[in-house]
Amino acid sequence: MNQTIIRFEQVVKQFDDDAPVLKNVSFDIEQGKFYTLLGPSGCGKTTILRLIAGFTDATSGTIYFEGKRINDLPPDKRKVNTVFQDYALFPHMNVFENVAFGLRIKKLPKAEIQQKVHEALRMVQLSGFEERQISEMSGGQRQRVAIARALVNEPEVLLLDEPLSALDLKLRTDMQYELRELQQRLGITFIFVTHDQEEALALSDEIFVMNKGKIQQSGTPVDIYDEPINRFVADFIGESNIVDGVMIADNLVEFVGKQFECVDSGMRSNEPVEVVIRPEDLNIGPVEGGKLKVKVDTQLFRGVHYEIICYDAEGNEWMIHSTRRATEGQEVGLYFEPEDIHVMRFGESEEEFDARLESYDE
Ligand SMILES: Nc1ncnc2c1ncn2[C@@H]1O[C@H](COP(=O)(O)OP(=O)(O)OP(=O)(O)O)[C@@H](O)[C@H]1O
Ligand SMILES: [Mg+2]
Repeated sequence: MNQTIIRFEQVVKQFDDDAPVLKNVSFDIEQGKFYTLLGPSGCGKTTILRLIAGFTDATSGTIYFEGKRINDLPPDKRKVNTVFQDYALFPHMNVFENVAFGLRIKKLPKAEIQQKVHEALRMVQLSGFEERQISEMSGGQRQRVAIARALVNEPEVLLLDEPLSALDLKLRTDMQYELRELQQRLGITFIFVTHDQEEALALSDEIFVMNKGKIQQSGTPVDIYDEPINRFVADFIGESNIVDGVMIADNLVEFVGKQFECVDSGMRSNEPVEVVIRPEDLNIGPVEGGKLKVKVDTQLFRGVHYEIICYDAEGNEWMIHSTRRATEGQEVGLYFEPEDIHVMRFGESEEEFDARLESYDE
């Protein structure tokens, strides 16, 4: 069991008289894991990092670090460091001076500064770049300087605010591997912010999916991908087909006028629900034997698969990822298994959702 290093308890953040930008946010961060805050622009991701770093105050609620309340602790007394989105490097200083800056302020002995800066640069694979000017570094290298500058203070928690968003796709993927590898090697806690769901799925031990100042769902990438709690999460994490349905009984759900076996239970009989099926869980085949009849509208080749868009008799759109081509205008059968159907309750809280899932295992 990992130790809790940061705890938010009912944290509210409100600027002036505006509506709160964080609404009763509670979570635990465990030591040594890679966390990602994922959500659309303006949902409150940076605000959470600023509260952890101490750059802003909570309006109400409590923030704990290693069990102690830190609401009033100044930023320089907190064992966290931030890598900002724009890196915030000093352009007129070379790499060494950028990384050494914080240690100089702390008035560490010269030899110790030397040793720590070299060590931090080694960790981000920039040994030998000490004398380089920032203006002579690539985007990816600058990013690594920014990480070295944060790591040199030996934080227990590293906060990373969309550090990869300025990089091109190839460099971004390389840096994702490097970040993940660095976090595992150092064993410190990373809290990473992104609005890129693929990045979140690839990097994280735990993801907090946020919307409008609330954490909608938290869990491992697999949990969140496989069992989204509501339409927002299902839509935000990957492509989804979402249709309205009715829960007939335990393990039996109705949608598009037909009843299907499923693996969800614990709902009221005839409760209205939303049903999610991922495009990669759908197959097409002969109409006879298929679970639903649909008509192929369009298809696009996406490199590894075809993305096929179909419509059912009620006009619902179905996206299918298939390695097999379809024919536009053709009627086909949709094939899926009971475990591919994910039933979502309206208005279910994360606690209620978790309790319901746990009851399946018993
Ligand atoms: N100093 C401030 N004064 C007033 N409102 C603010 C201030 N800082 C942030 N906000 C508001 O708080 C909300 C959350 O902002 P935040 O920066 O946390 O979003 P974000 O999730 O990081 O978004 P992005 O992905 O665009 O960076 C936004 O609506 C923003 O306008
Ligand atoms: Mg932000």
